Amino acid sequence: MIWKKWAWLPDYLENQISKDSEVTSPWPSSTDLKEVLKCKIPKEQERIKNFRKSNGDKKVGDITIDMMYGGMRGINALVWETSELDAEEGIRFRGLTIPECQKCLPKAPCGCEPLPEGLFWLLVTGDIPTEEQAEALSKEWSCRSKLPDYVTSFLKRHSKRCSSHVTTSSCYDSFEQRKCGAEIKCSDSSKDWSYNFTEMMGFDNPELVELMRLYLTIHSDHEGGNVSAHTVHLVGSALSDPYLSMAAGLNGLAGPLHGLANQEVLVWLQKIQKEHGKDVTDDQLKAFITKTLKTGVVPGYGHAILRKTDPRYMCQREFALKNLPDDPLFKLVSKVYTIVPPMLKDLGKVKNPWPNVDAHSGVLLQYYGLKEMNFYTVLFGVSRALGVMASLIWARALGLPIERPKSLTTNALIKAYGGCDKKK
Ligand code: MLT
Repeated sequence: MIWKKWAWLPDYLENQISKDSEVTSPWPSSTDLKEVLKCKIPKEQERIKNFRKSNGDKKVGDITIDMMYGGMRGINALVWETSELDAEEGIRFRGLTIPECQKCLPKAPCGCEPLPEGLFWLLVTGDIPTEEQAEALSKEWSCRSKLPDYVTSFLKRHSKRCSSHVTTSSCYDSFEQRKCGAEIKCSDSSKDWSYNFTEMMGFDNPELVELMRLYLTIHSDHEGGNVSAHTVHLVGSALSDPYLSMAAGLNGLAGPLHGLANQEVLVWLQKIQKEHGKDVTDDQLKAFITKTLKTGVVPGYGHAILRKTDPRYMCQREFALKNLPDDPLFKLVSKVYTIVPPMLKDLGKVKNPWPNVDAHSGVLLQYYGLKEMNFYTVLFGVSRALGVMASLIWARALGLPIERPKSLTTNALIKAYGGCDKKK
């Protein structure tokens, strides 16, 4: 098995490797992603065709009226190949947990965190890439990084309100303010994507580059039902091009119940610091949380599907423990983590009292000087592009049709299932 060059692999992947080694090496050597896909797509088309032929009429669940009014929670209705979310365990990217990705995926020469390029290769192909394959993507993306002049001048001219470019416009404004009009650096094709991205934002800090590698990896994909992923999929299903589909998804990501939440967390943490200074006591914090709960929710806590601490929160916490253990804002985030879950549990009606990814990201970005909060959703979107574009490739490869579920009116439902009095 010449391709078995990784010191560590999860058992199930080892098994799969020995089982399939004759036919499909998990690391086909080509560094050309399109070549690899050309070989994989027909096999996958065939596999799905056969699966549907023998199982197409089987039921995957029932839909209740509450599910229809309740944001379609619990309805298994989408096919999404690149990742799957387990309520207890969190996200797996093509079967790999975040700690497994941190071990298996290629790293930059002096880095410890996975390269998002490697993650993209994994999402698209289902295989762990070699270092050469990840590097080929770094080069490819670097070569494609120059914006056409008309796009740059469009971004300069239009306000952040322009809906289809809202995120990019905000990002441009932030650059301009902080860099005092200095020119954005060009991408260096000998460096990785996160390195170039961090440089282009005007930073020169290897630790922030490492954080970006982690950040851009973990925010990439969260199965298919979240607002941004589902929106990209839906708009893409009309055969709108990837840019149009992505722009639609970004607009969904900008909502406070989705990607904007990390900004809300930071505002909330800063309010605590403003009211109580940097050394807030447990009692002061409890009182602040109680006040918050009277009129709303604790930002960054809870999740539609997760029922445990989000592993994306945990790996950011580990990063902070290693690199900024004494930062006052991180200490506050840690204190909140010890105090909020028991308080939410005591309320007795909260399904998930644990923190999600958004409860941690802002504090790390602030520490490294990325203070422009309205840029945070842009960052999330840059990462999310990896997952949703990998899925869009497969949606096209499998010829998935335009998404068009049937809807019903309340009157139609009452007519079919009975009025209020019939419930008893
Ligand atoms: C996400 O990453 O998309 C969020 O955690 C929201 C979700 O999964 O529903």
